[in-house]
Amino acid sequence: MTVLVTGGAGYIGSHMVWELLDAGEDVVVVDRLSTGFEWAVAPEAKLVVGDIADSALIGSVIREHGVDAIIHFAGSIIVPESVADPLTYYENNTSKTRSLIETAVRAGVPHFIFSSTAAVYGAAGLEPVREDARLAPESPYGLSKLMSEWMLRDAAAAHNLRFTALRYFNVAGADPRGRTGQSTPGATHLIKVASETALGKRQSMQVFGTDYPTPDGTCVRDYIHVSDLVAAHRLALQRLRDGGGNLVANCGYGHGYSVLEVVDSVRRVHGREFDVTVGGRRAGDPPSIIADAGLARRELGWVPTHDDLDAIVGDALSWERILTGKNSARSA
Ligand SMILES: NC(=O)c1ccc[n+]([C@@H]2O[C@H](COP(=O)([O-])OP(=O)(O)OC[C@H]3O[C@@H](n4cnc5c(N)ncnc54)[C@H](O)[C@@H]3O)[C@@H](O)[C@H]2O)c1
Repeated sequence: MTVLVTGGAGYIGSHMVWELLDAGEDVVVVDRLSTGFEWAVAPEAKLVVGDIADSALIGSVIREHGVDAIIHFAGSIIVPESVADPLTYYENNTSKTRSLIETAVRAGVPHFIFSSTAAVYGAAGLEPVREDARLAPESPYGLSKLMSEWMLRDAAAAHNLRFTALRYFNVAGADPRGRTGQSTPGATHLIKVASETALGKRQSMQVFGTDYPTPDGTCVRDYIHVSDLVAAHRLALQRLRDGGGNLVANCGYGHGYSVLEVVDSVRRVHGREFDVTVGGRRAGDPPSIIADAGLARRELGWVPTHDDLDAIVGDALSWERILTGKNSARSA
């Protein structure tokens, strides 16, 4: 039995590949390398460079490797880009996911795990937000993901397929063993941006809005260490293989940190000051988004082990240093 990881050359997917290999699984990756990197794929996994919508390619990968489960990370992930270019997002995230599900159903793959997002809730209202909260995505990105959840639900009702959709909150940090991390240039994730600024890769960074109705006026988010996130996927895979039913579950810690608390943590862990400027609010940023992650804990038996902001920041900073070394080795 082999696990097919789509998007396995990207940030979260490359951690998933290591998590599966560490657990003794055989892994094949399909990635078109649009934002991912060949070097990010663990050498013990097989990388097939291609598109998830290439059903002939995916069908042959499934047959050749005896794939019994697909963990689907491939997609486009930048919310403002999805507002500016919605049709590309509906194509890459929704249409191509439809094609991948169809290929899975035709090839008889029984298990499917999907990367969903807290963006399906929009400006959540009641917090911590539970899975049965109102679904009101405020961007094409969020809607492209919600439509994929619905396609999975309907396909699972009609065919021999069971699925888990995990709704991620703010994913951060890097493999504590330094094997992979967030490597995309120009990433917008706060901990990544603050780490780059601390290490002098950016001149300064901006805090967007200090007048939100939160304790210090800046936005609050639920930051989850990428290693805890991929551990939840491994447990979801086990649950599906053990006969578990369809599941849609949040992945977060159930508490949050403000932008200023994150900046303080990066300064504390790095041990040096760096430049932070204050700007106005960004359109579409809700004041606070926190997960109720009770369902994932109950259904998956998920027990996070990296729920510590300074530790998340420490791993992000370590990866940033490793990345500097890799980039300078490549350009030498
Ligand atoms: N990073 C987060 O905080 C976050 C939060 C919620 C959900 N997610 C979801 O998690 C998944 C992974 O996100 P990430 O942060 O690792 O992003 P990423 O950009 O690092 O990884 C995505 C990978 O998919 C590949 N890809 C994109 N389109 C493809 C296609 N059509 N065919 C084949 N490969 C393709 C890219 O080359 C890349 O390697 C995405 O689906 C994203 O929506 C991420």
